Amino acid sequence: MKKLFKSLAVASILGALMSPQALAEKAKGHKDATNYSFSFEGIFGTFDRAQLQRGFLVYKEVCSSCHGLEKLSYRNLGEPGGPEFSKAEVKAIAAENEVIDGPNSEGEMFERPGKPADRFVSPFPNKQAAKASNNGALPPDLSLITKARSGWHGTLRSLFTYSLFNGSGGPEYVASLLSGYGHEAPNGEEKDGLSYNPFFSSLWIAMPEQLSEDGVEYADGTKATIEQQAKDVAVFLTWAAEPKMEERKSLGLIVLLYMAVFSAMLYLVKKAIWRNVKH
Ligand code: HEC
Repeated sequence: MKKLFKSLAVASILGALMSPQALAEKAKGHKDATNYSFSFEGIFGTFDRAQLQRGFLVYKEVCSSCHGLEKLSYRNLGEPGGPEFSKAEVKAIAAENEVIDGPNSEGEMFERPGKPADRFVSPFPNKQAAKASNNGALPPDLSLITKARSGWHGTLRSLFTYSLFNGSGGPEYVASLLSGYGHEAPNGEEKDGLSYNPFFSSLWIAMPEQLSEDGVEYADGTKATIEQQAKDVAVFLTWAAEPKMEERKSLGLIVLLYMAVFSAMLYLVKKAIWRNVKH
């Protein structure tokens, strides 16, 4: 049994080390994401409601003109474990969007204001239109982006110190990318239609800098620095990728507790049954 555990442990460590991510060649000058600490980290970590609401504001006012969030419905914004906007707020947010519905009795499609049950309206009707508006580059749907990207690459050290303890760094990557503009490219190089960003894998990204100091006005009085907005929207997108994270964590804890109590009971039962048997 011991042997089996040992070989399993070795196999999983080797597996982690040999993942394509770990082996991926870093472009010269490419930086790992900044290791921010977020409130949702760790087994007890939960989202900060106010931060989720601020992050939604940044998404709505800055990102939603290019990026969709097609896996999310407006009603999700009011559910427990998320930004927890009130019913009235969710209704108002949904109604700000025009949804294409139909066909009506004449066979025509028509537009109507959004309802809480609608999915988030994407900014473009299809990928071709999205590319055509962005010089041929596709702004990806952001529903799962914090899971699809990782913040650290390459060295064994970053793999051990970050991946094992701090997850894959998707939220950190998004926050670092958004606040990572404004660096001078090596040799002062410039590329047409692309911006230099050391956090982007190929260093040259087709998305221009999006955030500016005080670019949004937070209702809770938080100062809207570029880094603050970047972190807030990254946290919002982390929730969007897993709206039931808090439920998953609390269920996990309950299961562990149940197993602990159950094991103790089994142990006592075993002792009771074998009490009078010599062994
Ligand atoms: C004017 C359009 C536009 C706006 C507004 C915009 N983006 Fe982008 N974004 C793009 C384009 C185009 C790409 C694809 C870049 C590329 O592949 O080089 C992109 C790519 C991304 C990526 C993926 C990077 C990767 O690793 O592939 C993320 C994450 C992202 N944007 C987040 C955001 C967030 C968050 C906001 C709001 C703060 C935002 N974007 C606002 C156009 C935009």
